[in-house]
Amino acid sequence: MSEQRPDQLSRWQAQAMGVPEQFDLFLGGSRGSGKTHLLCALFLRHAEQHGERARCLVVRKSFPGLMDLEAEMKAFFGAVYGTALRFDGQKHRFTLPNGATVQLDQLEREADFQKYQGKSFSHIAVDEAGQYSSPALVDRLRSSLRAPAGVPTRFIMAANPGGAGHAWLVRRHALKESWQPYTDAASGFDFVTINATYLDNEFIDRERYAKNLIASCATDPELGKAWLNGDWSILRGAYFSSVIDETRNMIEPWACLPREEPEDPWADGPTSWRFFLAHDFGVSAPSVTYICALSPGAEGPDDYFYPRGSIILIDEETTTHPDDLNQGLGLTVPDQADRITRMCKRWGVQPRGVADDAIFNKTGSQSGSIADEFQKAGVYFHRAKKGSRLGGWETMRRLLADAGKPDMPGLYVSRKCQVWWQTVPALPRDPRNPEDVDSTAADHAADACRYGCLGNHDHPRIKVQFTM
Ligand SMILES: Nc1ncnc2c1ncn2[C@@H]1O[C@H](COP(=O)(O)OP(=O)(O)O)[C@@H](O)[C@H]1O
Ligand SMILES: [Mg+2]
Repeated sequence: MSEQRPDQLSRWQAQAMGVPEQFDLFLGGSRGSGKTHLLCALFLRHAEQHGERARCLVVRKSFPGLMDLEAEMKAFFGAVYGTALRFDGQKHRFTLPNGATVQLDQLEREADFQKYQGKSFSHIAVDEAGQYSSPALVDRLRSSLRAPAGVPTRFIMAANPGGAGHAWLVRRHALKESWQPYTDAASGFDFVTINATYLDNEFIDRERYAKNLIASCATDPELGKAWLNGDWSILRGAYFSSVIDETRNMIEPWACLPREEPEDPWADGPTSWRFFLAHDFGVSAPSVTYICALSPGAEGPDDYFYPRGSIILIDEETTTHPDDLNQGLGLTVPDQADRITRMCKRWGVQPRGVADDAIFNKTGSQSGSIADEFQKAGVYFHRAKKGSRLGGWETMRRLLADAGKPDMPGLYVSRKCQVWWQTVPALPRDPRNPEDVDSTAADHAADACRYGCLGNHDHPRIKVQFTM
């Protein structure tokens, strides 16, 4: 139907309608470019072509988001069909005059899948896919994509940059060249990515739209700019974007570690390199462990000078799932300990260091706390220095920002620490508290790093080493 009225679509939308249906779509780009509107148009065409055999489903993560979508769809389909459009408010379902259905739903957690048991849809769309911190739910939704012979199935995602799912969407889709088909390695499906911006949407007052959007992001102008420009690569709006710069913070992998010498008892402060682990624990979520070096104010094996108090992440051990930065491999503590010990052996450091508070909780099981289990397996953790979460982030930001200054401690991260580089620069802010990291995003490397930055500098066991 909309094909007969191409004047109703903007240029990029019309072009998007021309992408063969065998390709799934990722609609990236900026807010206000007309992604949701295009979604409606794609559903409409599918419905017109296949009548009651066309069953469309569109999900959003939040209920208010779902309500917005419902209003948008009512306006869209209402304009096409007028009073012939039927809408069941209880079920959030449109039935078009030709019998096709468009079901709206909130999909927030695993349990929500029950409602799709045994149901099948010929077109499934995830609007605002960037709100899903992990692709797991989105991927599962695909299992409901089925249609009778002759009815094409299609999966469509629309997303804005800067959300909790920024990292996985970047890895899979967002940075692909627009309009060029590719096979998504994670799902095995053929996709086309389309990135348009609000400037490509002649149906809005673009100048005013930009002004309003910037105003709505007064406390976070970087995020406003990312939304406006649909910029997935620069990661504006990410929590650490203003303090991470590869040229300052990234170092080439060290070939070996400098020697740990006994402290000079007469010196004011540490006189030798110190090495320790920093660990964030997970089983279904990933564990991340770093070998951290604390500089006494000396040159590293790479001949660069690291001011005293600088922290260098030398190596990384992680149980991150290769396809999903927010999912762990489900390894037991002994298995994790084994991996950590092997990393330590490679570098010749002791498997001891700091970890998140939670692993010291007594679980009530015979083996005691997770920290106890680690200890039995030869890895020794103590609590990272107490302090607020925000205080920890602030310390980490300051260290990152000061990297490269000759007289200030900085935070340096080896290129070897791949999960760190894949996740930390991209971490979104918590939408409810812009001062915090969004804890539903893949923040495990950042957490481990934060514990390392809080350091065990003040921990009695280590202090003994410094002052003996
Ligand atoms: N082809 C179109 N015809 C009329 N209005 C449109 C069209 N495409 C987009 N719009 C309007 O532009 C605004 C932004 O579009 P929307 O689809 O919500 O963008 P996005 O989902 O990319 O943020 C909405 O008010 C929408 O109704
Ligand atoms: Mg939208």
